[in-house]
Amino acid sequence: MPRDTYFRSIDYLRISITDRCNLRCVYCMPEEGVVPCSHDDVLRYEEIERVARAAAALGVRKIRLTGGEPLVRLGVVELVRALARIPGIEDLAMTTNAMLLRRYAAPLAEAGLRRVNVSLDTLRPERFRAITRWGDLDTALDGIAAAFEAGLEPVKINTVVMRGQNDDEVVALARKTLEARWHVRYIEWMPVGDAARDWRARVVTTAEIRAQIEAELGPLVPAKVGGAGPSRTFKLPDALGTLGFISAVSEHFCASCNRLRLTADGKLRPCLLAADEIDLRAPLRQGASQADIQALLQEAIHAKPRGHHLADCAQVRDRAMAQIGG
Ligand code: 5AD
Ligand code: SF4
Repeated sequence: MPRDTYFRSIDYLRISITDRCNLRCVYCMPEEGVVPCSHDDVLRYEEIERVARAAAALGVRKIRLTGGEPLVRLGVVELVRALARIPGIEDLAMTTNAMLLRRYAAPLAEAGLRRVNVSLDTLRPERFRAITRWGDLDTALDGIAAAFEAGLEPVKINTVVMRGQNDDEVVALARKTLEARWHVRYIEWMPVGDAARDWRARVVTTAEIRAQIEAELGPLVPAKVGGAGPSRTFKLPDALGTLGFISAVSEHFCASCNRLRLTADGKLRPCLLAADEIDLRAPLRQGASQADIQALLQEAIHAKPRGHHLADCAQVRDRAMAQIGG
């Protein structure tokens, strides 16, 4: 397992396969979208596969496909099939907005995808439309149902909590876990790209979210769910699903960070919240060997910073979330 400068073992690669999206979530993209990278700038599937193989050879065990929205890129099922075959890759997952999951869940599962995380911030149709600008709640819920039917479990539901926008729904979302195997994860809103504007006033901390849930539904008990990452997981007694808290802002889980990111345009990003990047695309297209790719991956691992500086008012301005992959 490769270790970084701070002795963290890096076994997880997040791959953004497109910066395009069929939605425009308010915390992720401006309404007009971000200027998408041109076709030539986006890594081809063979190139992504080469990077994934090099990463697996170094000790990466888990890959997640993200976007933008990964399901808007043509041929994604074939990419999944290719990645699922790489020796050493034990967990292959995807983060999606579920708009296209009804169509893709079964083929993805058949091709070797293990599970999905679905971004869903509200259970109210008008509000879903307002937050995603273009989305439809029933389509998302039907997509989630399709994921269960295809066995893409555990299904995790990612909810970004925003004051004045959906913070009055944290209890309703928690209630869902009583009757469904939903693994809801409350995510502290991070100041990335467009979301950095008036962020201070609207971020809701894990402590506040948890207090709201416990005031209404009683104490949470510790729980476990597969592939938990930086989330701290609990459940309501007798619930089918779990409640996770991803406290990037208030708690700083940097000390246990195990990931690298590859952007759609072929840059290795050692940290979501730091602007440093290492280009892989040019080397890939100029005849780099697998050993060269591995060396660049090692370089990115060594470039991982100790932690981020959100607590000191740092913001990420170089890219929108959709251009990094969350
Ligand atoms: N802060 C926190 N989470 C975010 N996401 C997108 N933008 C932000 C932000 N500013 C999350 C979405 C999605 C994942 C890809 O990233 O909820 O689940
Ligand atoms: Fe698209 Fe996800 Fe960004 Fe929403 S959060 S606009 S679904 S990439």
